[in-house]
Amino acid sequence: MSVKASEVDFDNLGFDYMDLPFRFRAYYRDGQWQEAGLTDDPNIHISEGSTILHYGQGSFEGLKAYRTKDGSINLFRPDENAKRMAKSCERLLMPTFPEDKFVDAVKQVVKANKDFVPAYGNGGTLYLRPYMVGVGGNIGVHPAKEYIFSIFAMPVGNYFKGGLTPTAFITSEYDRAAHKGTGANKVGGNYAASLFPGQFAHENGYSDCIYLDPVSHRKVEEVGSANFFGITKDNVFVTPKSPSILPSITKFSLLYLAKERLGLGTEQGDVYVDQFDRFKEAGACGTAAVISPIGSVTHEGNKHVFYSETEVGPVTKELYDTLTGIQFGDVEAPEGWIQKVDVD
Ligand code: PLP
Ligand code: COI
Repeated sequence: MSVKASEVDFDNLGFDYMDLPFRFRAYYRDGQWQEAGLTDDPNIHISEGSTILHYGQGSFEGLKAYRTKDGSINLFRPDENAKRMAKSCERLLMPTFPEDKFVDAVKQVVKANKDFVPAYGNGGTLYLRPYMVGVGGNIGVHPAKEYIFSIFAMPVGNYFKGGLTPTAFITSEYDRAAHKGTGANKVGGNYAASLFPGQFAHENGYSDCIYLDPVSHRKVEEVGSANFFGITKDNVFVTPKSPSILPSITKFSLLYLAKERLGLGTEQGDVYVDQFDRFKEAGACGTAAVISPIGSVTHEGNKHVFYSETEVGPVTKELYDTLTGIQFGDVEAPEGWIQKVDVD
């Protein structure tokens, strides 16, 4: 049974699965996308030979719907999620789902579940999870002939427990992705590889682990399921560049906002783990993470504290206010960043 909006505790949302009334689903057979539409069935019924089960042939996305002050609903750059998903699909030899149909399907799911978009000012959002999986009877290591594309949704609050309060991170000796592997794509294998190091970090009291580059293990790559940024002492917004980092839509948005709205310098380049001293502030950014300040990073037993372990730094806060202001409709958005969901 799906959950009713009246049963949801909107004031205490975490980042947890909920079975909402509707999801979008489309089937790919005989070389093309076939039937598609909303369904109330939260389960998918697939062959035991499905490539997603054995060989991880699947990709996913994450984006959010935001309730604005006037009660309308905003989507933040959903076209970018469609584009990135197409790249992930191409990397795993899967068909792509057309960008316009992707955005339309997102809107259908939000509209059908509109009562689950948290109220303006509550801090919550409706998280949308598009995914595509290879299905059908297969056994050899080959791409599937059939696929399912689906989008489900759930209201969420903070991903990292601290929200805008800084939390602690630890570097991992493990890699989530290889140098020329699939790190730049949103595919399940990267996340399966991150479960063990992530659990180690949590069990030791850290919010998550920081992955270093898989070649030299000297440069910061990802902060769990989010990108890293640092603010240098002379006000440059710096974020790592590497072929094994997921190209975060939030990160690219912040690079633009840092320069155009905050007047900061911007740089995509190497972030050496033994040169954290150049930063006065640091944070993690992503759809789920939004902007989560990094209080400290522990690396090989040494703890480096950035701005503060208890208070968000002023530049991080200004970036947060600008980004979330745009997403919730309070700050003017750069052209094309916001798409409205027509909910009558
Ligand atoms: N890095 C990883 C590994 C992620 O899973 C995500 C989440 O999507 C991000 C970064 C942030 O990307 P985005 O800002 O597009 O959500
Ligand atoms: C997102 O930020 O949308 C993500 O996909 C992170 C997630 C793996 C929880």
